[in-house]
Amino acid sequence: MIIWHPYTHAALDPEPLEIERAQGVYLYPRGGRRLIDAISSWWVTLHGHAHPKIADAIAKQARKLEQVIFAGFTHEPAEELAAKLGLALPRSLNCVFFSDDGSTAVEVALKMAVQFWSNQGKPERKHIIALEHAYHGDTAGAMSVSADSDFTLAFSGMRFPVWRAHAAYCFQCPVGKSRDTCSIDCIERLQQLLEMHGDEVAAVIVEPLLQGAGGMIVHPVEFLQKIRELTSRYGVLLIADEVLTGFGRCGRMFACDLAGIEPDIMCLSKGLTGGFMPLGATVSTERVFEAFRNGDRRHTLFHGHSYTANPLACAAAIANLDIFRDEPVFERIGGIAQIHQEQLAQFQNHPAVADIRTVGTVAALELRTNDAGYLSQLGHQLRRFFLEKGVLLRPLGNVVYILPPYAITREEINLIYDVIKEGLAFC
Ligand SMILES: Cc1ncc(COP(=O)(O)O)c(C=O)c1O
Repeated sequence: MIIWHPYTHAALDPEPLEIERAQGVYLYPRGGRRLIDAISSWWVTLHGHAHPKIADAIAKQARKLEQVIFAGFTHEPAEELAAKLGLALPRSLNCVFFSDDGSTAVEVALKMAVQFWSNQGKPERKHIIALEHAYHGDTAGAMSVSADSDFTLAFSGMRFPVWRAHAAYCFQCPVGKSRDTCSIDCIERLQQLLEMHGDEVAAVIVEPLLQGAGGMIVHPVEFLQKIRELTSRYGVLLIADEVLTGFGRCGRMFACDLAGIEPDIMCLSKGLTGGFMPLGATVSTERVFEAFRNGDRRHTLFHGHSYTANPLACAAAIANLDIFRDEPVFERIGGIAQIHQEQLAQFQNHPAVADIRTVGTVAALELRTNDAGYLSQLGHQLRRFFLEKGVLLRPLGNVVYILPPYAITREEINLIYDVIKEGLAFC
């Protein structure tokens, strides 16, 4: 039987490496030397691999209730997780819909937003505004709101049309300004779109503060604040896709907290279970929920997955939130952010480095190359080199980034930077 691996070219990419076990920040390949997981296994692992509290919680739950249909039924892990999420989230987000992963959390958010309006007799408000460079997942709806890219090229016929606003990609400012002197002028495109089409728009969707797969693009907080201001002014819902940024990645529990804003809908996944189990959550305000609670059965949110609110995944997520409560997680996060700041300074005038970006636990170097973009040869060369050096890094084309588990030590981060510095010889 052939196994089809994600984002992997069966002929051009190397054979997959078999990982036998993992512990803390380390992956242990069969018969090979250990690797530092510098990207948290695709941005999911928070407190380290095999954290005993999460592992035990899953095992305990598996002996009690492993799964039950969630339509017409509920269970303790889902109820407890909802209550604990409620304490962590911005106060206005007090309704939760569970699904399976980041893409489904986004699909649900889009459908929720569109049906919110149609349930209120405004079916014309069905369009979505999304940002350039966006990435929201690989299912059809999530792909539609993601930017046009090599990822979506083959699927243009499957994607629904969206209006596109500028992203605050300050390194290549879409309106030719400089961050030192600009007044977030790139926001004007969104304002124009809302001015022209506001009455037909259901929602604006954004990755708050950090666009991940689009190249680890860090936005000024003012950009997100202005998006909230505009969506409120034009009466349009704001969807914050915190699938990557949620659970401390940007330095606060949610990126929205850093900007002091509350969206109408928020998408969560990845770190939600500490990286142990697939689980998605789409949280909303009660105003959104209320549009579905009326006398008309056709106003049901007709969406669900077999494993919605899987009890094992909920138990993992509860244990994850308990670790935030019981361990000095935000101290660790602050420590990582500090080391990034110190280490990145050495790349300021490096001839191979075009731009340096960091927010919270995430740091990125955009490298100079003739074939910039996700398919850059440089990225593939570097990936192989880093693995040979004992570090799992997976550049997004010519953007090398570090996004480590919070359990990482200063020495381990320093080692990752040493390996990156050596890798710049390829540029
Ligand atoms: C911001 C964002 N949204 C959604 C997704 C999709 O999540 P998943 O891969 O779990 O479907 C991702 C994945 O990287 C993401 O970064």
